[in-house]
Amino acid sequence: MTKRTMSLPKRTDRLVLDALASSDRDAFVAYRQVPDVARWQSWTPDYSTADADDLIAEQPSQIELGSGNWIQIAIRDAATGELLGDVAVHSLADQPDTYELGVTLMPTSQGRGVATEALCAMVDMLFSEYGAHRVFAITDARNEPVARLFTRLGFRHEGRNVDADWFKGEWTTIDTWALLARER
Ligand SMILES: CC(C)(COP(=O)(O)OP(=O)(O)OC[C@H]1O[C@@H](n2cnc3c(N)ncnc32)[C@H](O)[C@@H]1OP(=O)(O)O)[C@@H](O)C(=O)NCCC(=O)NCCS
Repeated sequence: MTKRTMSLPKRTDRLVLDALASSDRDAFVAYRQVPDVARWQSWTPDYSTADADDLIAEQPSQIELGSGNWIQIAIRDAATGELLGDVAVHSLADQPDTYELGVTLMPTSQGRGVATEALCAMVDMLFSEYGAHRVFAITDARNEPVARLFTRLGFRHEGRNVDADWFKGEWTTIDTWALLARER
């Protein structure tokens, strides 16, 4: 099992995955302000340019193994360089070789397989290059597109915790999706 630092940028057929940069800020803020994009996420549509500046300034340049940090990775159109969305990767501090994923696309980039293509590449990188043992995601049970996404990616629906998370003023039911190295 090899372990090394991230090899960004990562190319796929249609995309480039690369570190989120200050030049991404305005597009990043624009989709974070869309109510449908923010609905199941930790932020709200009043997300500001100052919020984005702070987030981008705090970004590690690489996935830091076992650090407990999140990194936001830009998903860009390989042909135009346009920001389409981002993948978030959390390297857990309390479990070795364990990574949590999140993904967000701007509305005009949805419905084209972009998230599937980006996460396929990211999952492959985590298992093949980082020696991941387990990759997982926690999602709002009402978020049907993300359930279809992780099903399409071959993740197991590992569990549903009912009314388990106090989120945006209400009890929320959350799903856990996971893939182990030995299940790939
Ligand atoms: C979750 C989210 C990223 C999923 O995006 P998505 O566009 O549905 O997923 P993909 O980019 O993989 O596209 C798949 C869809 O495009 C269609 N599609 C079109 N061309 C395709 C292609 N070449 N390859 C694969 N799928 C394709 C698929 O049929 C699928 O549609 P369906 O789900 O209606 O069956 C998106 O809904 C989003 O950003 N939501 C807001 C943020 C959020 O809630 N994130 C989840 C927190 S973890």
